[in-house]
Amino acid sequence: MGNFAHFKALVNLTLPCTQPQSRLSHLDMSLAGQHAFITGAAKRLGRAMAEALLQSGVHVSAHYHSSLDAVLDLKKWAEKNTPGRVVPIQANLCLLNEVEAAAHQAQAALGPIHILINSASDFYPTPLEALNREDWDQLFNLNLKAPFFLTHHIFKTMPQGGNVIFISDVHGTRPIPRYSTYCATKAGLISLTQSLAKEMAPHIRVNSISPGTLLPSDCATQAQVKAAADRSLLGRVGTPQDLVQGLFFILKHHYITGFDLIIDGGRALS
Ligand SMILES: NC(=O)c1ccc[n+]([C@@H]2O[C@H](COP(=O)([O-])OP(=O)(O)OC[C@H]3O[C@@H](n4cnc5c(N)ncnc54)[C@H](OP(=O)(O)O)[C@@H]3O)[C@@H](O)[C@H]2O)c1
Repeated sequence: MGNFAHFKALVNLTLPCTQPQSRLSHLDMSLAGQHAFITGAAKRLGRAMAEALLQSGVHVSAHYHSSLDAVLDLKKWAEKNTPGRVVPIQANLCLLNEVEAAAHQAQAALGPIHILINSASDFYPTPLEALNREDWDQLFNLNLKAPFFLTHHIFKTMPQGGNVIFISDVHGTRPIPRYSTYCATKAGLISLTQSLAKEMAPHIRVNSISPGTLLPSDCATQAQVKAAADRSLLGRVGTPQDLVQGLFFILKHHYITGFDLIIDGGRALS
């Protein structure tokens, strides 16, 4: 997770995100025994969701790209602390053959996938004056194409009552200058949520979550974090726990589909 101290000091954050989070309070076991495939599960927000599901007895195919040590740490932590099992799945999700292989590996290891959480993503500016095709392809392949094709590869075997969750961003609907490519990928996820909810109903629910700033990047300055806090109506940035609460709300609310849950402290309105 890198140097997080400045951020913790600023918002008094109590949940470190790559450390075991036994304080999470989602110990309702109604999801126990299910299989969740989470992309980008080794660190940060993906890891917070993985830990919470593992504590609820869900087995997790924990996708990672480069964070082998972190995913092994998650596996070790789960073995000691949770009823859920972790199977690490490595893939570069910019490559469609690896997307397909990851879906097959996960199902071979832990059976049909009940919960697919598309969280892996890249985030960087693509200002018009410095635009290049590689950035466009990288962002679209990872942020939009991979979630779509992953869904395609698992939906036929997904059990009735299954859930597909796309992690979008409040900037999918409130775009920011210089990040047009990133914002377009996240807008695409919200559109996919609606069209796939129609296509996969009534057996599978499809929803998205659009966070505001919940966990600033490791290189964010205190001034940037404070600016993000000031832009929200609640005057602070969120925490990974805010995302976890939203995830469990969607998973447990069986009459919600095609919905985008904005968790941004009112940022979209400010
Ligand atoms: N952080 C926030 O406050 C915030 C705000 C709004 C929206 N979101 C959304 O929430 C989700 C999680 O956010 P985050 O900040 O935790 O994400 P992140 O740290 O930026 O990235 C998540 C993971 O994406 C994986 N990844 C990067 N390139 C990849 C590739 N080519 N193939 C496969 N995986 C790759 C990385 O895996 P490895 O580490 O294994 O390489 C990384 O750990 C993202 O979709 C993000 O857009 C976050």
